Amino acid sequence: MGISVTLSRTADSSTSAVGIPIASDGPLSSDLGLSRKDLSALGFEAKSGQTLILPPTAGSKQVRILVGIGDVKSVTPSTLRSAAASLARAASGHASLSTALVSAGRGDKKANAQAVVEGLLLATHRYVDLKNDKSSKSKLSNAILVATDSARATIEAGVARGRATAEAVCRARDFANTPPGHLTARMFADQAVEIAKASGLRVQVYNRDQLEALGCGGMIGVNKGSVEPPRLVKLTYTPRNAKGKVVLVGKGVMYDSGGISLKPSDPSHASMKMDMSGAAAVLCAMASLRALKVRTSVVGYLMCTDNMPSGSALRMGDVITMRNGKTVEIHNTDAEGRLILADGLSLAVESKPDAIVDIATLTGACMAALGKKMAGVLGNNQSWVDQVKSSSDRTDELVWQLPLHKDYRKLLDSNVADMRNIGGPLAGTITAALFLNEFVADVPWAHLDIAGPMDTDGDDGWLNRGATAFGTRLLIDVVENFRKPRK
Ligand code: BES
Ligand code: MN
Ligand code: ZN
Repeated sequence: MGISVTLSRTADSSTSAVGIPIASDGPLSSDLGLSRKDLSALGFEAKSGQTLILPPTAGSKQVRILVGIGDVKSVTPSTLRSAAASLARAASGHASLSTALVSAGRGDKKANAQAVVEGLLLATHRYVDLKNDKSSKSKLSNAILVATDSARATIEAGVARGRATAEAVCRARDFANTPPGHLTARMFADQAVEIAKASGLRVQVYNRDQLEALGCGGMIGVNKGSVEPPRLVKLTYTPRNAKGKVVLVGKGVMYDSGGISLKPSDPSHASMKMDMSGAAAVLCAMASLRALKVRTSVVGYLMCTDNMPSGSALRMGDVITMRNGKTVEIHNTDAEGRLILADGLSLAVESKPDAIVDIATLTGACMAALGKKMAGVLGNNQSWVDQVKSSSDRTDELVWQLPLHKDYRKLLDSNVADMRNIGGPLAGTITAALFLNEFVADVPWAHLDIAGPMDTDGDDGWLNRGATAFGTRLLIDVVENFRKPRK
C-alpha cells in the first residue's frame, strides 16, 4: 500500500513537509507568522480543501502546506477526508508529511482519524500496473499524524480502520481499471479466491455447467455470446455471535459491448470494462470485514460474465427462464445487468437473509438523472433504504432515492413471457429496479445504481481519474452498522 501512516504525540520536524490545518475563522497560531490579511492577500481563505504552499520558516527545513477546513464548527469527518486528500495532492512531491489534521475536527476522534487516512490514501492512489513509466505516482510514502491529546488508542484504532477501508477501495479501483482482456470472469474469480483465502472468507465458485444446473438462466443467457465462460463467486463471512445476516449482490459484467444490441462506438464504450464495479465493490468490501471486526454475517454474490455479440448470442425475442422460475422476454440485450442480478437476488432470497443490497452499474438513465456525483438508491423497505442513506452520509458516497413506483410495472409487460427486460424510453432506472423487484420476494432490499459515479474524468478530492470504486466504503459501513429493518 502506498503510504505508511504513523502516529506521533509531538510535532514532527523530520518530514520534508508539514500540513497545517487552518479554519476560516478564529485566531491563527502565532507560530504561523502570518495574519488573516496576509493569507487573504495570498488568495487563501481557508475554504474547505483549499491549500497554500509556504516556504520553510527561518531555521526549519519543512515546507508548510496550509490546508483549509472551513468553518471550524461544521467540520465533519467528510471535511477532514477532503482536506487530507487536498493535502496529499499538494504534498505529492514530498516523500514525507506530518500533520495535525486529525485534531482539527471536533467530535468522534476515531471517525476523524479514519477519514484523514482515507483522504490521504485515496487521493494518492494510481492504477499504474500497465505503465512502464510509473512516475505519475505520488512520491508521498510516509505520513505522520500528530495528535497531542491523550486519545491515542482511539486515534490508532481510527487509523487502522481508515487503512482497511482505503485499501478495499484502492483494490476495487484497480479491478475496475483493469482492461477487459486482463480481467475475464475466470481471472476475476481466481483472484477472488485468493483474496477470500487471505481475508478469512469462505469462497465457492460456480462454473457454466453448475450455473446451468442451478437454473441461472440470466447468467447463462447473457454469457451465450461470449467465448469466455461465466463465473458466480459466493463469498461468506461468518463472525461469532452475528447480529444478523445481509446478502450483497454485485453486477460483474467484465465487459459490456451491449451484445446483439451493440452499443454505439463512442468513448463510453471503453468505460464498459468497469461494468463489474459492483462486483469489485462487494469483493473488496467483504475482504475488509474481518480486520474491521464486523459483527454481521455477510454473503456476497459476484455475478461475473461479459456481454458479447456473436452467432450464439441472445437474440431479441428470446425467452429465458430465471433461477426463481420467472420467464423473461429479451427486448434489448444491452439490458443485461438486471438479468444476471436477478439470479443473484433469487439465490440471496433462498438463503433467508435479514436484508439484501445489490450494487450495479445498471442504467445510463440514472446517470442522466443524477449525474456523476451520486448513485440512485431504490428499495422495497424504507427503513432499510434509510440505513443505506445513513451510511452514505457517513462515508460521503452520495446517494439519492428514486421511487419504486408500482404503476410503472406494466411497462415491463410481455406478450409471451412473465415480463420483458426493458421498459419504455422513460424512467429507465425505475423500470430496471422494478424488474429486480420481481426477484427479491419480501426480503428488505435496497438497490444501488452506480452507473454515474463508477468513474470520474478528473482528479478531485479523494477521487482520481478512472474508476472510483464507488460504494465500497458505503457497503462496509452498511454491514458494520446493520440493524434488522422493520418489515
Ligand atoms: N452497463 C450499462 C449501463 C451504464 C451506462 C453504466 C453508462 C455506466 C455508464 C447497462 O448494461 C446498459 O447498457 N444499460 C442500458 C439499459 C437500456 C438498454 C434499457 C442503458 O442504460 O442504456
Ligand atoms: Mn448493457
Ligand atoms: Zn451493463
